[in-house]
Amino acid sequence: MNVHDSEKIAGIFSENGLISADHAENADVIVLNTCSIREKAEQKFLSELGRLKKAKDYNPGLKIAVAGCIAQQQGKSLFKRFPYVDFIVGPNNIDKLYRWIDNKSIGTALEDNPEYHKKNLPMQRAGGVRAWVSIMYGCENFCAYCVVPYTRGKERSRPAQDIYDEISSLAKRGFKEVTLLGQNVNSYGRTLEEAVHFPDLLRKVHSIDGVERIRFVTSHPRDLSEELILAMKELPKVCEHLHLPIQSGSDHVLHLMNRGYTFKEYRRRVDGLRKMIPGISITTDIITGFPGETEEDFRMTMQALTDIQYDGIFAFKYSKRPGTKAIEMPDHVPEQVKAERLAQVLQLQEDVTYQKNSELVGQVLEILVEGPSSSDPERLTGRTGTNKIVHYCGEREDQDAFVNVRIVKAGLHSLFGEKLF
Ligand code: 5AD
Ligand code: SF4
Repeated sequence: MNVHDSEKIAGIFSENGLISADHAENADVIVLNTCSIREKAEQKFLSELGRLKKAKDYNPGLKIAVAGCIAQQQGKSLFKRFPYVDFIVGPNNIDKLYRWIDNKSIGTALEDNPEYHKKNLPMQRAGGVRAWVSIMYGCENFCAYCVVPYTRGKERSRPAQDIYDEISSLAKRGFKEVTLLGQNVNSYGRTLEEAVHFPDLLRKVHSIDGVERIRFVTSHPRDLSEELILAMKELPKVCEHLHLPIQSGSDHVLHLMNRGYTFKEYRRRVDGLRKMIPGISITTDIITGFPGETEEDFRMTMQALTDIQYDGIFAFKYSKRPGTKAIEMPDHVPEQVKAERLAQVLQLQEDVTYQKNSELVGQVLEILVEGPSSSDPERLTGRTGTNKIVHYCGEREDQDAFVNVRIVKAGLHSLFGEKLF
């Protein structure tokens, strides 16, 4: 979401005739687009901002803006701590950068911006074949650990026609894959006057010529409807992958987290998905050491990973976020226990992922080629519909094209294949 917001920020600048500088010291304007989902992201921002002070000393004309969720949460207090910051802009006020460029002294843009979701901002997208497209902003789920409802505000869906027009124009420019973005895409349409639900939106996007693959993130397990699973099955361009964050395998912890489902309900949805879409890959997010998580709760998370056999996971230690409910809860788990549990989760999942990847050896899969492999420039890298990364030896012309590869070797984070002609 933040990377895509940065594409919008870059789009606004380039529309105003600015071009990217090769180095911070040569820049006239620097925008730090920040994330506050966990403390680590915040620490990264602080050290980066510290470095920029030197750039400002070297070039006093440099203008620095802080954008994103830290900007929204910390607001004007950032000016006090970092007097060399010129502008503070929240994630729903990116369009205010136009005014900042014209008159570089507007200070902050942190207010509610009720029409933001109707604005079609320019974008400078990275790459020419895969694109992110925002379909909704904000979140009102208030999971107890999460800062997003406080920083990104109320849930608001973009008009379906705007989304359709944006994707149609991307398709005309040669983009083949779109990823629809929202904090909780399954509730798309709830705030619209027209009755368009997420499965309807998928059908609409599916009808666009030139779009060959459709992905979406993130799905909330509570709102994953049967109708959506049916739409995924019925629409061949919708990729056979779903990211479905479980967070914990314990009902006690899920309740404390305010997630709105039990493990059994979650499990039923996974079974439904696998029955309707055989071969679908399912990935998830896990938090270890949420306040009140006992050894028994944690064991249930480990059991959930063993039962469900995810294709991949993102796992994090619980991180205290100012303003959230969880920070006030009793029984915070010691840092070391959170870290040990995280290590156990990652170790267990490594084995599962490797096993799952190994089962693909010998299969022929279609990949959309993204470009040279970062680890080995002799090779190209592409992604399967199930979102697995495949490296193979191919020609430069393969870039941005669909290629069939036979999987010859499995790794932990990627697969190796041979191109079929
Ligand atoms: N601590 C740890 N992980 C968090 N996430 C969100 N907030 C926190 C937090 N305070 C994780 C969740 C979410 C993912 C995007 O980030 O797992 O699904
Ligand atoms: Fe955060 Fe929960 Fe909303 Fe996801 S659904 S953004 S975890 S509050």
